[in-house]
Amino acid sequence: MKVGIDLIHFATADYYLGLDTFAAEKGVDVNKYYVGIGQERMSIAPPDEDIVTLAAKAADPLFNHIERDKITAVLLATESGVDQSKSASAYLHGLLGLHKNCRLIELKHACYAGAAALQMAQGLVHANPNEKVLVIAADIAKYDVDSSGEATQGCGAAAMIIKRDPRLLTLEPGSGFYSDDVMDFWRPNYRETALVDGKYSTKVYLNSLRETWKHFTANTGRRYEDIDWFCYHLPFTKMAEKAHRQLTRLTGVELSDDELKTLLAPMQAYNRQLGNSYTASLFIGLASLLDNAPEDLTGQRIGLFSYGSGCVSEFFTGIVEPGYRDHLFTEDHRWQIDHRQPLDYADYLQLYHTQPEGLYEGQVVLPEYNRGRYRLKAIRDHKRLYERR
Ligand code: HMG
Repeated sequence: MKVGIDLIHFATADYYLGLDTFAAEKGVDVNKYYVGIGQERMSIAPPDEDIVTLAAKAADPLFNHIERDKITAVLLATESGVDQSKSASAYLHGLLGLHKNCRLIELKHACYAGAAALQMAQGLVHANPNEKVLVIAADIAKYDVDSSGEATQGCGAAAMIIKRDPRLLTLEPGSGFYSDDVMDFWRPNYRETALVDGKYSTKVYLNSLRETWKHFTANTGRRYEDIDWFCYHLPFTKMAEKAHRQLTRLTGVELSDDELKTLLAPMQAYNRQLGNSYTASLFIGLASLLDNAPEDLTGQRIGLFSYGSGCVSEFFTGIVEPGYRDHLFTEDHRWQIDHRQPLDYADYLQLYHTQPEGLYEGQVVLPEYNRGRYRLKAIRDHKRLYERR
């Protein structure tokens, strides 16, 4: 039985901060961002946007192509959850009007949780071919102002349907994985923003790739030459170039810098405009590759590397299905990116780094910034109230 990704759609916020504006504010050469880390803009979530509204916006269009009553589980991966107990997928279930015979779970391990949800969803479908699982990876990446990570903030949610006979990508059995207890990036419960040992985190990422790849080749017998396209977790797009260069060194493959850039460019295109979306970034990278590849990818093998700080990583592969182009959301993805509103630095600080009044008392009324179909309207008696428009 073939099992894999049947549909994929992503959503991001309605606002962005340009890294040109950011560089001018910080008195830094903009090429540090455009070239050095490979980022142009970061999506900024206003106070009435959270991972639930992003997830709802990502999932909503899928139901024009699949019956919402048939969804048997919602697996929502995030590291910017809104509640320690109630899963964000429960809010989502209500907002999307899904059937009551549906399981709801939130998963966490930094940026890796999206890949974990995908693996779990595959397992559910293999156990029962009638399962249709909604997997959502949704995050808002927030670092302290003036920290090394500030330029790599962003947000987004990727929603996928996992089922048998998928229309986009059949996931192959076998993968490589690797874990280690390290402190490269973390966010204690009492903090709004993540802490990161930036340079160290890139080293741990690359080390994890090396170990994961060894495990992948040993487990599956597949080699570099068997894979046509590569998608990497993208904290910033330059990370994929560092990662892929490491893989070519490890495998003894010769690839010029131009060839490497050409190979990775379709996968990097959207993330360059959105910034880091943690759990979602690998899957937004996949959507970007499917939307922007220079040729028909039918029958080609895509390798996906998920990395979550802390750390857990996994490398797995999928084969692109014939006719996949008829089931993409390319126009909508591009429209969202192009229609965000730019912010100046002061507005960015106001929207992104200022707590709404009354938050700790659990009584907040949120002004309308979010122009999308779903928004967080208020918090009353510590209960989040969402609005569907
Ligand atoms: P930094 O100190 O601000 O930057 O931090 P830098 O001085 O290292 O410069 C960055 C690059 O720009 C360098 O290139 C410079 O040479 C270059 P590299 O040596 O890396 O190839 N550069 C220029 N290039 C052209 N023109 C110029 C110019 N100036 C400089 N004028 C750092 C960089 C990545 C540490 C920072 O952005 C950071 O702390 N980011 C957050 C952490 C992060 O993203 N880590 C990635 C791996 S961990 C991960 O992916 C997991 C994560 O997503 C979380 C999760 O799992 O949940 C983060």
